[in-house]
Amino acid sequence: MGGTKGSTPALGFHVLTPLYDRVVALTTRERSFKRALLDQAAIEHGHQVLDVGCGSGTLVIAAQRRQPGAQLSALDADRAVLAIAARKARHAGAEIVFDLGRSSALPYADERFDRVVSSLFFHHLSWGDKLLTAREMHRVLRPGGELHVADWGRAGGLFSRTAFLAVQLLDGFDTTSDNVAGMLPVLFASAGFRQVEEARRIPTALGIVSLYRAVKGSATPGRRSAGGTA
Ligand SMILES: C[S@@+](CC[C@H](N)C(=O)[O-])C[C@H]1O[C@@H](n2cnc3c(N)ncnc32)[C@H](O)[C@@H]1O
Repeated sequence: MGGTKGSTPALGFHVLTPLYDRVVALTTRERSFKRALLDQAAIEHGHQVLDVGCGSGTLVIAAQRRQPGAQLSALDADRAVLAIAARKARHAGAEIVFDLGRSSALPYADERFDRVVSSLFFHHLSWGDKLLTAREMHRVLRPGGELHVADWGRAGGLFSRTAFLAVQLLDGFDTTSDNVAGMLPVLFASAGFRQVEEARRIPTALGIVSLYRAVKGSATPGRRSAGGTA
């Protein structure tokens, strides 16, 4: 099946990919959390925007609808899901550049993007790949550019922790444990981001979807003046 080596498909198994949109819509309050993520990202006319792990393209197509003056790129490691995304974008009349690639080696120049967005994606990655990916996101953002991520967040109590077991059974315990332990803010800070915050927590049938925001500082790490915080 087409895709880059070693990545997990959208629903854990390639055969389930065509069902992805329906399953996510039914189980994750997808419309509300993606709308909230785009509110938070505040994409402007002329912005260069990248969606990493775009899957079937729902988020990036919604972003294009909201801000037709932005330049949208979207990347995924799975050729089959990218074909679905490209078809949906054509039907929506959305002009989006879809690229096949891995998040740990983004095929884009340094400081190219104003916004990097991502949804339900980081929980597919090992901690090592999460860190490489966050560093790559930092690299491709311009100084002052912003990262906006929606993904499974720290469990809010017994109910959300138990509900999240369904996601862990499908997507694996190794990659999802960092999420439910609330480690994504630590990850973004380790990759060099500033002003890292969990801006919202949205309860769903499968656990808490957290919206994170982080900013790339205006100076390159190591070149800052003593005591500066960029
Ligand atoms: C659960 S889906 C989320 C899709 C979409 N962002 C959404 O919100 O519906 C996760 C996606 O990440 C992609 N993926 C997994 N590992 C990847 C990697 N290392 N690099 C790029 N994409 C990857 C999968 O192919 C899948 O399409």
